[in-house]
Amino acid sequence: MEAQQILSGFCPKSPSIPIVKHPFSLKFNSLPSSCPSIQSLNLEFPSGAFHPTSTAHKEVCSSSPRRIWCSRSNSTAEAKEEGHEVRSQVTVRKKKLAVFVSGGGSNFRSIHEASKWGSLHGDVHVLVTNKSECGGAEYARNNGIPVILFPKAKDGSNGLSPSDLVNTLRRFEVDFILLAGYLKLIPVELIRAYERSILNIHPSLLPAFGGKGYYGMKVHKAVVASGARFSGPTIHFVDEHFDTGRILAQRVVPVLANDTAEELAARVLKEEHQLYVEVVEALCEERIIWREDGVPLIQSKENPKEFH
Ligand code: GRF
Repeated sequence: MEAQQILSGFCPKSPSIPIVKHPFSLKFNSLPSSCPSIQSLNLEFPSGAFHPTSTAHKEVCSSSPRRIWCSRSNSTAEAKEEGHEVRSQVTVRKKKLAVFVSGGGSNFRSIHEASKWGSLHGDVHVLVTNKSECGGAEYARNNGIPVILFPKAKDGSNGLSPSDLVNTLRRFEVDFILLAGYLKLIPVELIRAYERSILNIHPSLLPAFGGKGYYGMKVHKAVVASGARFSGPTIHFVDEHFDTGRILAQRVVPVLANDTAEELAARVLKEEHQLYVEVVEALCEERIIWREDGVPLIQSKENPKEFH
């Protein structure tokens, strides 16, 4: 799709990116400006983990910006006459990510591995879970990532309140929140504090087979039972309901004639791991742009005039 046809008049908030004039510009999320210390309750710092009061501060002030090629209109009259575009390099600050999980955390793992191997211009700084013993939380502890319990346990003994969670994520200077198999509804306080900055992955082609009650194997069972010939993961921004936020990316897999729900789940999960990493790469490189009607699009890295 041509940028000119679909975009207009946004103004970036990030000072690290030059303002792009017509025909299009990008919508960025606000960035933290200070390096405060963390003094939160209910945080687990596994042995060998960095402590945010020290290391996070260092990371904020020294995180290496990545050079990214961007296309933009050339403002010189000469170039305009010739209809040229200038490909210029811009620098993008490394992003801080919070991942929310309730289960095994295989999507969390693939995102963490991509950041470790450098394909992702972001780091997972904190893991949030409602199940402190789940596979995802264990993986976080083994990899020196602090674990936060949210929401509060029923007896109130453990876990953060919504406003404490927002404050804690702010103190970690989290830029983006990635839900990866987190089964609790996200409180409105968090959605307001992280507008257009929370993603979820769902294992069906939304809006089909989504909403309350559609989670885990239930989704795949319903897909197989429906006779649908295709399924696949959807990544969407999160609003205050289950699975209804704006769709950002999807990938299609076939549903085979003799598929079990488990076989379909495995096929979809394989795609989830790739798709989530690709989308988070775009997020961290500030390649998500918002169409005028509120639909988010991903700007292609190879050809910045293409959006999908
Ligand atoms: C995935 O299928 C995801 O789409 C859904 O929950 C599952 C989480 O799997 N939201 P894992 O914990 O990442 O392995």
